[in-house]
Amino acid sequence: MATPYRLLFVCLGNICRSPAAEGVMRSLVETKGLTDRISIRSAGTGGWHAGKLPDQRMRTAAQNRGHDLSSRARQITENDLRDYDLVLVMDQLNLRDVRTYDSGSQFGAKIRLFCEFCTEHQESEVPDPYYGGEQGFELVLDLLEDGCRGVLAHISSTLA
Ligand code: 4NP
Repeated sequence: MATPYRLLFVCLGNICRSPAAEGVMRSLVETKGLTDRISIRSAGTGGWHAGKLPDQRMRTAAQNRGHDLSSRARQITENDLRDYDLVLVMDQLNLRDVRTYDSGSQFGAKIRLFCEFCTEHQESEVPDPYYGGEQGFELVLDLLEDGCRGVLAHISSTLA
């Protein structure tokens, strides 16, 4: 069996956007029967929430759409940039922060903004929902469901 393609989603706290991206992507990959071909994880640029389950508001909103979020938060490491094939960040702040782990400037091509893969939404970032209301979580999921389809199309074109 070929080595799985390794995909990492990154946000600030790793308790809202990136674990939701992980759950949405996992649902999609399961539907397509590609679970063994694509490995999906998430991380945060900050480590404050390490070890925690995703935010309950995010879990509930995702569950209502059929996505189970059960990962535990962790902070990104420099090795992640070496080990993952694609690192998708949610906003410009994440992009800047993740690039600080790329001390040798070797991994720029695999660090990309998630919204590049959206086709139905014009947003350039997935906005941080943490301090807002319920609608913010729904918008996050709308963007993630759109972009994850594009991510899957992108990855599928690279799988042998
Ligand atoms: P996330 O959201 O980056 O989508 O996980 C946040 C979660 C927690 C905090 C900020 C953003 N916080 O400041 O604790």
